[in-house]
Amino acid sequence: MAFRNLISSDRGAVRSITINRPDKLNALNRETINELQIAFDQARHDDSVRAVVLAGAGEKAFVAGADIAELSAITPIQAQTFSRAGQRMMRTIELLGKPVIARIQGFALGGGLEIAMSCHLRVGSERARLGLPEISLGLLPGFGGTQRLLRLAGRPAALELCLLGQPVDAVRAHQLGLLNRVAAVDALDDEVNALADQLAASAPHALAGILDAILVGGECPFAEAMDFESKAFALTCTTEDMREGTRAFLERRKPAFTGK
Ligand code: COA
Repeated sequence: MAFRNLISSDRGAVRSITINRPDKLNALNRETINELQIAFDQARHDDSVRAVVLAGAGEKAFVAGADIAELSAITPIQAQTFSRAGQRMMRTIELLGKPVIARIQGFALGGGLEIAMSCHLRVGSERARLGLPEISLGLLPGFGGTQRLLRLAGRPAALELCLLGQPVDAVRAHQLGLLNRVAAVDALDDEVNALADQLAASAPHALAGILDAILVGGECPFAEAMDFESKAFALTCTTEDMREGTRAFLERRKPAFTGK
């Protein structure tokens, strides 16, 4: 399907989904949220896709938040629908069953940080600025930001970023765990592509099990989470890739995973 606000392309088993509204710093309007829902549903169901890179077009911003022009005129009922659509789309990313990397070259603010936090890895350039500035609009994050930031960076950082609304730079974001890697501006794509290639060449069922154990198991009480992990572990032992990975180690060669 052709998108109006996204560019989707494949490089081998890596799908790139780029939000393409650079003149509005890739702000998330309703249409873009709906298109992202469709694009990630497609990525989930396409077996040839093993990893996804989410990016924003242009040099300045990954995503500068929800579209404030749309928000300014929104009714409470529309706001609830908008929040739920954004939350659903971001939960689809989080539970995709395939690793998703956010490529953050500049601003990731509001909904931009919220969507980045629903990705599994975040790689930023030295120019990245991350924050939840909704308070300056008389609002609060409505796409899961309060909860994901709390879980990712803990209560002190969640309270500070939400209450004060000031963005943090790449170094602080890295210290807080909001960025997994920081790259020089010119090295960002190489860093993102290397990670994406590594993930795309890994055993997909093992990746899915890891994502499931951490993201779903991690929400359960500890004993249940342990049980969840054991079952996910056992499930990977049904795969040809597990036999290949262990055999390759013993035969001192690189494994060739097929996804079976
Ligand atoms: N929603 C809608 N439009 C946005 C936007 C958003 N979240 N963020 C930026 N834009 C638009 C601007 O209105 C401007 O459009 P225009 O050229 O038609 O006037 C364009 O993108 C460029 O933004 P501008 O503000 O001129 O760039 P800047 O370099 O001066 O500032 C930011 C960059 C990111 C600091 C600033 O755009 C900003 O604070 N954006 C809002 C961040 C925010 O509060 N996000 C949370 C939303 S809930």
